[in-house]
Amino acid sequence: MCESSLPGGLVNHVVRIGATVRRPASSSTRFVADLLKLLEASGWPGAPRYRGIDEKGREVLTYLDGHVAWQPRQPPDVYSDESLLRVTQLVREFHDLTAGTELAGSHEVVCHNDLAPKNTIYRPVSGVLSPVAFIDWDLAAPGARIHDVAHVCWQYLGLGPSIEDVSEAARRLRLIADTYELVDRRDLVSVILWWQDRCWRGIEAAADSGDLAMIRLREAGVVADVQQAYQWVFEHRAPMDRALR
Ligand SMILES: Nc1ncnc2c1ncn2[C@@H]1O[C@H](COP(=O)(O)OP(=O)(O)O)[C@@H](O)[C@H]1O
Ligand SMILES: [Mg+2]
Repeated sequence: MCESSLPGGLVNHVVRIGATVRRPASSSTRFVADLLKLLEASGWPGAPRYRGIDEKGREVLTYLDGHVAWQPRQPPDVYSDESLLRVTQLVREFHDLTAGTELAGSHEVVCHNDLAPKNTIYRPVSGVLSPVAFIDWDLAAPGARIHDVAHVCWQYLGLGPSIEDVSEAARRLRLIADTYELVDRRDLVSVILWWQDRCWRGIEAAADSGDLAMIRLREAGVVADVQQAYQWVFEHRAPMDRALR
């Protein structure tokens, strides 16, 4: 069967073969396989299904039809409050499914750790493009609920210099925390800053040690973009902290 490259990944070379995708296996493959099996067993529709390792040693996952929001400009539905709400509900759902399981270990839940429009499948639901699933689970690990929630805030709100209306961003930040029913949200903005700091430093360190994918990211300006996003959140945190009170 023919193999076609899938666009939108900056790190892994992912191909489609019929109803499946193939991703390079990694040290996280076993954990991700167990996680995807747990989500499949519960019938949760928001993740691809794990189907084993192919003859070339790649992970086999089910191909999810739909729109992946990886390009900088997206249809308005992707940015709507409804879309944000649904993304957040999906996150709450898979967190709750992993809470108290062996996979979460001594942590609250299993976090995805890379929740972003570029890792989200959108499909028309009643004529409106809506988020239905997350892909790219290879960074998933035991963690705290607030970690994924903060990543959602950063990535789906696009927190950074391109934000024109801070109070609108603060309102939407609150919408995410409320929809998730995040109990302790005092540190939410600090955790967003922690992610941004960790992200650019991680890319920089890996690029310095010769990791080709990270060198490509740095050359594409990602380190500088994330540093600016950090600076923006740092400077505008007061209205966001207030909205969360
Ligand atoms: N299960 C899937 N169903 C549909 N498309 C997928 C699936 N997994 C990956 N893709 C496509 O492949 C691209 C890269 O995959 P991804 O897992 O995000 O790799 P990367 O780690 O490089 O970001 C995605 O942008 C998406 O277009
Ligand atoms: Mg991806």
